[in-house]
Amino acid sequence: MNRTLIRDALTNLRPPAEATVAGWVRTVRHSKGGFSFITLNDGSCLATLQVVADGKLPNYAEEIAHLTTGSSVVARGALVASQGKGQAVELQASEVRVLGRADADSYPIQPKHHTLEFLRTQAHLRPRTNTFGAVARVRNAVCAAIHEFFQRRGFLYIHTPIITASDCEGAGQLFRVTTLDVSAPPRGPDGAVDFAQDFFARSTYLTVSGQLEAETCACALGNVYTFGPTFRAENSNTPRHLAEFWMVEPEMAFCDLAGDADTAEAFLKHVFRAVLDRCAEDMKFFNDRIDNTVLDTLAHIADSEFQRVTYSEAVTLLEKAGRQWEFPMHWGRDLQTEHERFLTEETFRKPTIITDYPASIKPFYMRVNEPDAQGRRTVAAMDVLVPKIGEIIGGSQREERLDVLEARMAETHMKAEDYRWYADLRRYGTVPHAGFGLGLERCVQFVTGMANIRDVIPYPRTPRSAEY
Ligand code: 4AD
Ligand code: MG
Repeated sequence: MNRTLIRDALTNLRPPAEATVAGWVRTVRHSKGGFSFITLNDGSCLATLQVVADGKLPNYAEEIAHLTTGSSVVARGALVASQGKGQAVELQASEVRVLGRADADSYPIQPKHHTLEFLRTQAHLRPRTNTFGAVARVRNAVCAAIHEFFQRRGFLYIHTPIITASDCEGAGQLFRVTTLDVSAPPRGPDGAVDFAQDFFARSTYLTVSGQLEAETCACALGNVYTFGPTFRAENSNTPRHLAEFWMVEPEMAFCDLAGDADTAEAFLKHVFRAVLDRCAEDMKFFNDRIDNTVLDTLAHIADSEFQRVTYSEAVTLLEKAGRQWEFPMHWGRDLQTEHERFLTEETFRKPTIITDYPASIKPFYMRVNEPDAQGRRTVAAMDVLVPKIGEIIGGSQREERLDVLEARMAETHMKAEDYRWYADLRRYGTVPHAGFGLGLERCVQFVTGMANIRDVIPYPRTPRSAEY
């Protein structure tokens, strides 16, 4: 079908005089004078196109006069300046074909306000609503801007495996991948399940991060990025955690922590600017309906410098804040969301990059710093915090010294033989390198102002929830 997207029908300065459009009925009004006014949405933009169907059309009495919300139709006709209020262009139909009816009584997405909680129970139909259409288009624009940023800077897009034998973050939040019969798995002499008989002849999991494999590519190809789904069996029922989320992870050879932070800042600004430039209609919708600060916040961030502080400085600020923290803060503890939000929302009022965390709370691969004046051991880590979300990016310079890496692996009880290939990068032509990971959904949440991460991915995966 040679159809015109409604976006083009509405915005082209000179739309084709005659056009075919197709979509789903949002509302329909059958007037007594023998006309029907059908508002049609096809997902190409937030706005709907009004289709005017004349009672003289051959299928009017039988089909058009009974059209209801949710039905799918194809309409052909002339695009003309509209006499009605609220739209510049309408389609005067010479033909309206009804492809699929929707039963008016049972169709869940009625033209009225639905709560986001209700719409989560209708995940298969919620893309037809304004909010979820706008989220899908902004998410798409964010992804396009991500690729654009790295492609323009000469990064190679690489694909790291989804099934892996390693636990990159060392947090043990892994989903096991197995083809063994879980009701009667083979067992070894000690009674433990014998994964040597499993599909891959070893224990395998869904990846929590593509970083380790990305490092191997960066240490050959220079600058690379991987962008794919990652999985964490983390029992966190919060508005910012998913069990399946998408992460973009650049990895740069010949790069230190400062270069990593510079790239992260330029990257976020590029993405925010692209969304402001390219999603004006959807962003106005989020600003009007979801969070009336998103437009100002994004424009401000795209033009201002991020704050940079060390973890130790941040802890001092938090200790002096005179607040009753739910999780009292002192050196050595990990920052909680309440602390992150305080720093970025109240102390600095802008995105904040925190660097040089205690080694004891960070994974094995982060580069160990010289001990500080008090003899405390930190690593060259960085987290980028933004208002309302807290951590949006986590990254670090990587440990490129073999002896230090091996000592860290031993400290964290990792089996050296499982990571031999990773250590090999340090045996053969090691180089300083660094990278970071941006959680795609946290980014879309931040940009749109959507309060719950379950509403920025079509099918959220969270503890006890994988319907659809
Ligand atoms: O800080 P994280 O755990 O870092 C890594 O995985 C590194 N290997 C990345 C790298 O250096 N290549 O995760 C990175 C980001 C977080 O800042 C957050 O935005 C997002 O991934 N993230 C989650 N998003 C949604 N749900 C979860 N459960 C998430 N866990 C992390
Ligand atoms: Mg992190």
